[in-house]
Amino acid sequence: MTTDISQDRVLIFDTTLRDGEQSPGATMSHAEKLEIAAMLDEMGVDIIEAGFPIASEGDFAAVKAIAEQSGNATICGLARANPKDIDRCWEAVRHAKSPRIHTFIGTSPQHRAIPNLDMDQMAERIHETVSHARNLCDNIQWSPMDATRTEWDYLKRVVGIAIKAGATTINIPDTVGYTAPVESADLIRRLIAEVEGAEDIIFATHCHNDLGMATANSLAAVAGGARQVECTINGLGERAGNTALEEIVMALKVRNDILPWSTRVDSTKIMNISRRVATVSGFPVQFNKAIVGKNAFAHESGIHQDGMLKSADTFEIMRPADVGLKETNLVLGKHSGRAALRSKLKELGFDLADNQLSDVFVRFKALADRKKEVYEDDLEALMRDQSQGP
Ligand code: KIV
Ligand code: ZN
Repeated sequence: MTTDISQDRVLIFDTTLRDGEQSPGATMSHAEKLEIAAMLDEMGVDIIEAGFPIASEGDFAAVKAIAEQSGNATICGLARANPKDIDRCWEAVRHAKSPRIHTFIGTSPQHRAIPNLDMDQMAERIHETVSHARNLCDNIQWSPMDATRTEWDYLKRVVGIAIKAGATTINIPDTVGYTAPVESADLIRRLIAEVEGAEDIIFATHCHNDLGMATANSLAAVAGGARQVECTINGLGERAGNTALEEIVMALKVRNDILPWSTRVDSTKIMNISRRVATVSGFPVQFNKAIVGKNAFAHESGIHQDGMLKSADTFEIMRPADVGLKETNLVLGKHSGRAALRSKLKELGFDLADNQLSDVFVRFKALADRKKEVYEDDLEALMRDQSQGP
């Protein structure tokens, strides 16, 4: 069964609970996994990769429970290229309303060395394991791990074999974050053009962020014809992480003029799930992280604050409400100007004449020089001192 998808829609495949959880130290409890899966389903993610069922009893139980509670999202489990892994995966995901088995094998020269198979033996293994999975489930994803470092002729050959054996989604992983946008687009475009049967299946992109290009590479792959983007909340994932879901969703929303594809994700739920994933994984979000960082909608400098007070679009390309934030944060600090101070004081109930503001402004600057950030409490104390006089 191929997922029904129109040409301008991109499926969002979230792997926070599988690839994200593989980050050293990011382990989540059973209850936390169920909670995150429910939030992903609720926000409109199309496919949730819930875990790696053969990895442990705990992983199996989590994938099974997520499958049992599933709503609209397809629930997917990961399996290596052997029947035992695939059977265990099926046992866990088959409880979902819409189950998927995702099986993979490393196809690059670096990865082929590990199972000690030559190219023909590996091709045979791919045919056998994808056929085996397809006999269990009609929604099969296959990944040639380290695809971006796999020889072109071999990649083309094995993708063709997986399609013939029954794969319905072919995922092209940039496992070590090695590709660049032009190459990422080109690879998908050429596979779609040159592999027999490619027009009947969905191509996916799965990028890692080792060179900081995961989002750019994923969007380039979409331009090349990929219709599924694999990503995680906050970009959680091994080493430098995976493509960040929030970046893909917001890039497609904000720049729909030049990235004319849409997702089903409700972007107003982004901030909430970002905070929850940060808490349960124990991986705090960096302050300047795109979309979900503490500073992503914060402005401190006088020029920026002044501009923002006149019109938000001077320094903001998206509205805070679009990602589930109440408002822009005008942080008061030593770079802030009078306009921001006046506006904050007004919010706190102090409507000052120009000469009063000038006095407070001098004291505010002295305080801001001593403190990194001036909070509402500090301003109230400043105003109390002001009214009591010298
Ligand atoms: O990065 C990768 O290659 C993976 C595969 C298992 C798809 O996560
Ligand atoms: Zn990965």
